Amino acid sequence: MERIDKLIAHPQFKSCMDAIKKAEETRKFCKHDLEHCLDVARIATILNMDENLGFKREVIYATALLHDIGRAQEYAGGDKHSSVGAKLAREILESCNFNSDESKEIVTAIFYHSSKESSENKGQRSLAYLLYRSDKESRNCFLCDAIDECYWSDETKKHKLNI
Ligand SMILES: [Fe+2]
Ligand SMILES: [Fe+2]
Repeated sequence: MERIDKLIAHPQFKSCMDAIKKAEETRKFCKHDLEHCLDVARIATILNMDENLGFKREVIYATALLHDIGRAQEYAGGDKHSSVGAKLAREILESCNFNSDESKEIVTAIFYHSSKESSENKGQRSLAYLLYRSDKESRNCFLCDAIDECYWSDETKKHKLNI
């Protein structure tokens, strides 16, 4: 996937991921590293096939790789990572040759990914709702030592491995 190779080598992507890694060094809750992004990408790819959603593999991977890119700025006191990330993603996508329709759909998915209601409002078969579901299903809450202190809803934490 040529455009994804370009994306993961992009200086801004790399510096954001490095900043997240540093900021989360002592975090006891789920981290937002490359492994998390790839888990989300693979789960979204499976759901895309199972449900015939019709998204291109590169669009799914770009969405998953970029969805938490605004985390370090949020930790540093900036806006929510979904809105910061949407802005950062737009610039990176453009330089990785995603066209304006693809970019718009990916940026929208990132902007709404933190909320079930907002992502589902974009449509049950939207990229936004696919990202939301894949993000949640990527977390092994049932194995987590910090589950009782986690900010996630009880409903989400009850979630078991289902893929
Ligand atoms: Fe997120
Ligand atoms: Fe995430």
